[in-house]
Amino acid sequence: MRVAITGSKGQLGRALMDSWQEDELLGIDLPEQDITDLMALDARLRGFRPEVVIHCAAMTDVDGCERDPDAAYRINVLGTRNVAVAAERVGAALIYISTDYVFDGAKTEPYGELDEPNPLSVYGRTKWLGEEMVRHLCPRHYVVRVAWLYDRGPRNFVATVLRLADERDEVKMVTDEIGSPTYAPDVAAALRRLVCLPAYGTYHLPNAGICSRYAWAEEILRLAGRRDDLRLIPSENYQRAARVPKRVELRNFFGAEIGITMRPWQEALAARFADGDHG
Ligand SMILES: NC(=O)c1ccc[n+]([C@@H]2O[C@H](COP(=O)([O-])OP(=O)(O)OC[C@H]3O[C@@H](n4cnc5c(N)ncnc54)[C@H](OP(=O)(O)O)[C@@H]3O)[C@@H](O)[C@H]2O)c1
Repeated sequence: MRVAITGSKGQLGRALMDSWQEDELLGIDLPEQDITDLMALDARLRGFRPEVVIHCAAMTDVDGCERDPDAAYRINVLGTRNVAVAAERVGAALIYISTDYVFDGAKTEPYGELDEPNPLSVYGRTKWLGEEMVRHLCPRHYVVRVAWLYDRGPRNFVATVLRLADERDEVKMVTDEIGSPTYAPDVAAALRRLVCLPAYGTYHLPNAGICSRYAWAEEILRLAGRRDDLRLIPSENYQRAARVPKRVELRNFFGAEIGITMRPWQEALAARFADGDHG
């Protein structure tokens, strides 16, 4: 299968480039290719003629989006419009990666795929508007929401906790932010199964289960054998530029109906440590 992957140098993009090796892959990322340049993107996709486009590229710095909303709208909304238009013009199906931050976290039950989004931040709003672009412009789409992504690389929460264990004796960690840690290679594997089915629509595919940032950090230190290196101090109300939902559990209802389920986050995290580190 010919597959174009935007954001191919990011966490999920790298996992896709690594694990979809039997496919013919085209990576699209900065600085060589900017998704905000519609003409250049369109020409690139027409040259490659993908059957599937997986759109991971985004401005993912949640606080950065709050500080520079124009950039967030340009990349996450207009960039997604460009990807959707270019994918449709070459007749490719489109997988759009979205986020649990489209929800406000007010619901105490898990969020289903058809629950109404109500984003609290510029990032969440731009990702939701990106979803809407995809739904309107590309009928053969899969909108796949995931949550707190990490891989074996250096730019995620797992790497940060391990770095803090090197640098400090103790650190405050929030107990009142709850979500689903999600291992990027697990999402890459699930998408490979999903794309074989013409079951277009919206999916929730984070790793199963939820925890607080505090509980996640505890498990990271335990699995790394470093519990004595960093004391976690429970805290609340972490001040940041963006408002983020306090608690989101995404229910995977539509995926489970077609046999696509995700393993518990603890198992996935253990697999990440078994897999080792990537620089
Ligand atoms: N990270 C999470 O916790 C999380 C949670 C839920 C959903 N998601 C969604 O999952 C997807 C993948 O996330 P990720 O963590 O893999 O993101 P990431 O590591 O930040 O990767 C995003 C990639 O997109 C590139 N990019 C940004 N602007 C671009 C542009 N204008 N043209 C081309 N490429 C551009 C980035 O390049 P630069 O690094 O040079 O900017 C980066 O390589 C995103 O759509 C994100 O919204 C992420």
